[in-house]
This record gives sequence, structure tokens and C-alpha cells, in this order.
Amino acid sequence: MEDRILTNEELNEDRFEANIRPNCLEEYIGQKEVKENLDIFIKAAKMREESLDHVLLYGPPGLGKTTLAYIIANELGSNIKTASGPSIEKSGDLAAILSTLEAGDVLFIDEIHRMPRYIEEILYSAMEDFVLDIVIGSESTSKNIRIDLPPFTLVGATTRAGDLSSPLRDRFGIVSKLQYYTVDELTKIVKRTGRVLETEVAEDAAIELARRSRGTPRIANRLLKRVRDFAMVMGDGTITLEITKMALDKLKVDAIGLDDTDYHLLKSIIEKFNGGPVGIEAIASSIGEEQTTIEDVYEPYLLQIGFLKRTSRGRIVTKLAYEHLKIAYQEDMFE
Ligand SMILES: Nc1ncnc2c1ncn2[C@@H]1O[C@H](COP(=O)(O)OP(=O)(O)OP(=O)(O)O)[C@@H](O)[C@H]1O
Ligand SMILES: [Mg+2]
Repeated sequence: MEDRILTNEELNEDRFEANIRPNCLEEYIGQKEVKENLDIFIKAAKMREESLDHVLLYGPPGLGKTTLAYIIANELGSNIKTASGPSIEKSGDLAAILSTLEAGDVLFIDEIHRMPRYIEEILYSAMEDFVLDIVIGSESTSKNIRIDLPPFTLVGATTRAGDLSSPLRDRFGIVSKLQYYTVDELTKIVKRTGRVLETEVAEDAAIELARRSRGTPRIANRLLKRVRDFAMVMGDGTITLEITKMALDKLKVDAIGLDDTDYHLLKSIIEKFNGGPVGIEAIASSIGEEQTTIEDVYEPYLLQIGFLKRTSRGRIVTKLAYEHLKIAYQEDMFE
């Protein structure tokens, strides 16, 4: 029973995602340069009737990598097959996925940096020459076989381009880094999602939500969903500035989008390590979060807004962060 409930929840979440996801480049807000370049490369590939070069998308979570992968397939008029790095454990897993591809298809591999190294190596020839070299049988009777693949486009997504081996990285003809979104762009995204959800969002409320979304569309959409709940129960369903502020305060999202974990992280460095420099392992154990979660989810935004600095000796909390947290900053201690 509990399983069923969970599954239904997930289904609802999926449906929500599918509804609010833009389907074509034109609807995809922001990331101007990435979009303009992809538009050209896609058009050129179609004119030549070739498969699009392999594409690597990287950047922090929730900026629209998966969305863009689907858009690429859609703009090409191709099918998309999806897999995620950690789920491909054996060469047979990869062979099974590759053998379903048809000419021009897009293969999307999410979290591609988490693919085992020996799988990466099989991918090299698949990407470069559209052939699959695999070994079958056991040691004494093993045989190398080569299978031809149709031309396809691999779209890889990763939060950490640095974790990819360079031979794999070099095989992507198109490498695009997604950036945090501006308040203006996020405002547009909030308004668009509001329209999809048939919820009225006041202009000033949309801006407020955008400001508190850490430059991230996924967070903007999530907060909008929660604020909509407050608006329905406590108001007439319209998302006003007043309801937005009240709801976001209750959700413990501060004026610039920082949440409890951000506070915990910054305060730990200040209180336990005198503001740093301190290594990431020490921070992780002091706040009880995974190191990779801090590195992939929390730290990038704090670095982006200049609250944290990375030095060779570790992370430092900046004066700007002290001011935001209203903690006195002792200049001489760190310089
Ligand atoms: N440019 C955009 N315009 C409008 N909506 C967007 C845009 N980018 C992302 N979104 C929305 O933000 C949400 C998150 O996007 P997506 O799932 O593509 O992120 P992601 O980069 O794949 O994240 P992760 O790294 O966590 O997998 C989706 O609901 C999507 O609809
Ligand atoms: Mg994704």
C-alpha cells in the first residue's frame, strides 16, 4: 500500500515535470549563447542529414540539462533514449542500450561522470566510429566482437565536467556550460510555469520568487508550487507578493534564497573554524552532509554570490557573508 502511494506521488511529480518543461529551444528561457549555438549546430546537422555531434552539458543541478537534452532530440526530430551513469554497471548494460538506437537517435546519459571507467572505454569507439567492441565468453574462450552502430548523438549531462576522463571529454564535439539564471530570466520562468499551472502570479510576486530561487529554475518552480498551496488555502488562489513573502518565510527561504543548510554551513565555518580556511571534509563532517552534496549543490551558489571563496588552503567565508548573517567580521584575522 505504501508503495502504491509513493508511486502515485512520483507519477504526479513526473507529470508536473513533463507539463512545465519547455519543449523547444524557443521556449527555453535564458542560456542565450548555449541556445544560439545549439540552434546552428542542429540546423546544420539536419541540412547535412547527419547525426548531430555529441553534446556535453554541464553545470550545477536544476539548471535545465535534462530539459535541454529532450529539446535537442525534439528539435532534431529524433527519438531519445535515456540512461544514467551509475545504472550502467556492465558492458552488457551499455550494449543493450546502444543496440536499441536507430539512425539519428539521441542517447541521453545523465550523471555521466558516475559511469565506471571501463564502460567509458567502450563508449570511446561507439562515439568515435559508431562501433561497439565487446568481449564475450569467459577467459579461456573469450572472443572480441565488433558490432556496427547507427550514427547517433550522445548527450551527456554532468554537474562535474572535471570528473570526466579527458579522452571521454574530448570526444564531445559540443561542450556547453549552463550558467545560473538572472532574476529577469527566472521571473519569466515563474510566469511561464504559472500559466501552465493556470495560476495567476502577480508581477511583483514573480520577481520575489525569482530573487529567492538561487539562480535555479528547478528551485523557482518548486517554490512556486508551494506558494500556490498557501495562496489557495489562505487566499483566493492568486499568488500575490504578500502571500509569496509569507510562504517563503515559513519555508525558511531567506531574501536571497538561502535556506537552513546554507546558514548551517556558513555558521559552522565561522564558529568552528574562525571563518576558514577549512577543508571540505571538515565542513562536511561538521554539518553532517555528504561532501559531494556540499560541492555539487550548496557550494556553487555560495561561490557564485561571493559568500564563499576557494583557496589552496580551503574554503573561506567572505565579509559579504558575515554582513548578510549579521555577524561581526574581524578583518585582521584573515588577511
Ligand atoms: N531554460 C528554462 N526555461 C524554463 N524552464 C526551465 C529551464 N531550465 C529548466 N527549467 C525547468 O527547471 C526544472 C529543472 O530542469 P532540469 O530537470 O532540466 O535540470 P537539470 O539541470 O537536469 O538538473 P539535475 O542536474 O538535477 O538533473 C524543470 O522543471 C524545467 O522545466
Ligand atoms: Mg537532470
